[in-house]
Amino acid sequence: MRHLMSPLDFSVDETNQLLDLAVDIEHHPEKYAHACDGKKLATLFYEPSTRTRLSFEAAMLNMGGSVLGFSSASSSSVSKGESVADTIRVISCYADICAMRHPKEGAPLVAAQHSGIPVINAGDGGHQHPTQTLTDLMTIRSLKGRLDHLTIGLCGDLKFGRTVHSLINALIRYPGIKFVLISPEELKLPDYMKQDVLDRNHIPYEENNNLDAAMQGLDILYMTRIQRERFFNEDDYIRMRDIYILDKEKMSHAPKDMLVMHPLPRVNEITVDVDDDPRAVYFKQAQYGVYVRMALILTLLEVKPC
Ligand code: NCD
Repeated sequence: MRHLMSPLDFSVDETNQLLDLAVDIEHHPEKYAHACDGKKLATLFYEPSTRTRLSFEAAMLNMGGSVLGFSSASSSSVSKGESVADTIRVISCYADICAMRHPKEGAPLVAAQHSGIPVINAGDGGHQHPTQTLTDLMTIRSLKGRLDHLTIGLCGDLKFGRTVHSLINALIRYPGIKFVLISPEELKLPDYMKQDVLDRNHIPYEENNNLDAAMQGLDILYMTRIQRERFFNEDDYIRMRDIYILDKEKMSHAPKDMLVMHPLPRVNEITVDVDDDPRAVYFKQAQYGVYVRMALILTLLEVKPC
């Protein structure tokens, strides 16, 4: 039985196969309409979510399966003090596969160790978010035509942003990847990511706190939200929340083929007048998230549609 905790749980070949399957689903959804008949997905969300939870649910429903679960810790037995280990033991009797989001780093891993069904990490604290990464990889591959030889600007909250941590882990496995890390001093990429991931693998990167200057030469600008819920101090959040705002004016100086991605939800970091720019692909990215999660469910359940 396989789980998905980090994007590195799949080899590059397995990742490419999964993305190929997601593309086939995108183009031939009818082939998969009954692939999960009779199967159940449990969504165990101890932290808020819109896209991730609903795209998981849409993915299972699109394949004829059903869904059950909870969308906040307060509506589950965790509010009575139940452990993640006990919850997953019980859910294993009710469902065939589960997606778990938790504010504590490592909680989905604990669940996987006690689970009788595949567990998918749907985001654990500031740590990893592998299904967003698969979504991002599908977006880049579909719209740029490749996953190698790219310069990617990562902008915003690089300290707490789990989507950024997972994406870096996944992309360094492709040749010719460079990163431009755009953040204020206080929200820089953690040292463990720089030393253990970038430096150890000889990945070129530069740090720059100026978005205008950093945009030149980028193939992709990956914007992120300042993660209010992970700040200890509201004043620090208020000081930093509007530090980077990508607007139409800035886009007019950006490279003509630079894709703008964002895992969403956005707050102030991209103004709505950027949405119509053909380079802004964040809503398309959200759509790819459904195909990728369908492919992931099929892969972990080892279902082969006929
Ligand atoms: C992200 C997350 O939850 O980490 N959202 C998502 O899953 N698409 C990004 C965020 O919350 O800022």
